[in-house]
Amino acid sequence: MNIKNLASLITFATLLFSGVAFAQSGEATYKQVCMSCHAAGLVNAPKFGDKAKWAPLIAEGQVTLTAHAYVGVRAMPAKGGNPNLSIEGFSDALVYMVNNSGGNWKSPNAQTIAAINKEVESRKAGLNKKQ
Ligand code: HEC
Repeated sequence: MNIKNLASLITFATLLFSGVAFAQSGEATYKQVCMSCHAAGLVNAPKFGDKAKWAPLIAEGQVTLTAHAYVGVRAMPAKGGNPNLSIEGFSDALVYMVNNSGGNWKSPNAQTIAAINKEVESRKAGLNKKQ
């Protein structure tokens, strides 16, 4: 194998690996992280599939709702209680929940993720001021 082939093999392996790292679907994250509270509507969590409960939340828009839930809202823990959950992973779990509760959202692209991160920062700044 020459150097060029080796280089493309490494590139391929890297792509494959990053593909695996990002492969966790919103459904899988929902089942791992969110379901314990949202399936049954524990402590008043908006229940999976409850369109009436989700409609006003969905109306807040994807950027706002995702950012506020990621930071944590009242009894809803930040990052769904999983400190390792990325904003992308959280967003996709929420998309899965929303799309099964009357909404029609898409997995956020880089631009939407950037807007969510910005809203996360201003939400955190606002929360800190109140303390
Ligand atoms: C420990 C229980 C728990 C877990 C785990 C949890 N939630 Fe929640 N969630 C809640 C509760 C309780 C509320 C209602 C908060 C309130 O209004 O007081 C809530 C509310 C929300 C809301 C509405 C926020 C708003 O602005 O009113 C969203 C969106 C949400 N959760 C998404 C998620 C996602 C996505 C996950 C998984 C990644 C998740 N939650 C995991 C308990 C949980």
